[in-house]
Amino acid sequence: MTLALRAAILAMSLAFVPAATAAGDNLDCSIDDDVVAYTGEDWASVVVDTRWRLANDYVPGDLVTTQGAGIGGKARLREFVINDLAALAADARTAGVPLGIQSAYRSFRLQASTFREWVRKIGLARATKTSARAGHSEHQLGTAIDFKSRGGAPPWKVRNWAKSATGVWLARNAWLYGFVLSYPDGTYHTSCYDYEPWHFRYLGRDAARRVHDSGQPPRVWLLTHPTPTPTPTPTPTPTATPSPTATPTASPTDSPSPTAEPTAEPTAESSGDLPIVPGQRL
Ligand code: DAL
Ligand code: ZN
Repeated sequence: MTLALRAAILAMSLAFVPAATAAGDNLDCSIDDDVVAYTGEDWASVVVDTRWRLANDYVPGDLVTTQGAGIGGKARLREFVINDLAALAADARTAGVPLGIQSAYRSFRLQASTFREWVRKIGLARATKTSARAGHSEHQLGTAIDFKSRGGAPPWKVRNWAKSATGVWLARNAWLYGFVLSYPDGTYHTSCYDYEPWHFRYLGRDAARRVHDSGQPPRVWLLTHPTPTPTPTPTPTPTATPSPTATPTASPTDSPSPTAEPTAEPTAESSGDLPIVPGQRL
């Protein structure tokens, strides 16, 4: 990221910091670049948002393709997500709403080029509300998925995809399989991004049920509750066992910005979430 872009983003933070919430200032969506101390174990509790981010070189060590979930495509996710994704995909198929994956794991580098591309296309202010800066995306965790209707267009290009059969089914059922909607409608000031009915994060079935039952956006729930033991289905790989930490802490090696400019451009299959087009309400 260029110095000018970084300066512009930080300058904009004043415009994006909401009033303190009743639950406390820690829920504010401030814009900064603090690095979370994260090794990949606390995947069900780590929070990445407009302030906190993953290290430039964080890459999950257990990425596999989503082929194992019977959902096709070349997307990659952490291995322990696959079994619940397979169950979700199978039941969606049975319900007549076969799922596709638009995007899953995205590297720091790809996220950087994705964000930069959206800044170029729609300007910094809108891009910041709909696309995460490098390191700040849940997609780098390897546990987030942008779903689409199987064989369909990217969901953001489908008018009111949230109300499509697939979108409605996912909104009602995804939590039963361990997936929660990261950016629900009307939660911008606490989830920190505009509504994305296609973007789900895997927390495991137990935590997903708790988040669902709370009615809170996942970010709010994670920042205000002790971390339960996640239960991927079946037993996850050894690296999937989390330790409880509800609030991220800055590492002593906080770095101010990415050290290298990305060169990769997003592809149709792996590009980041596109913003909602002007006038469109999802
Ligand atoms: N669209 C979400 C915020 C992301 O880029 O990760
Ligand atoms: Zn997404």
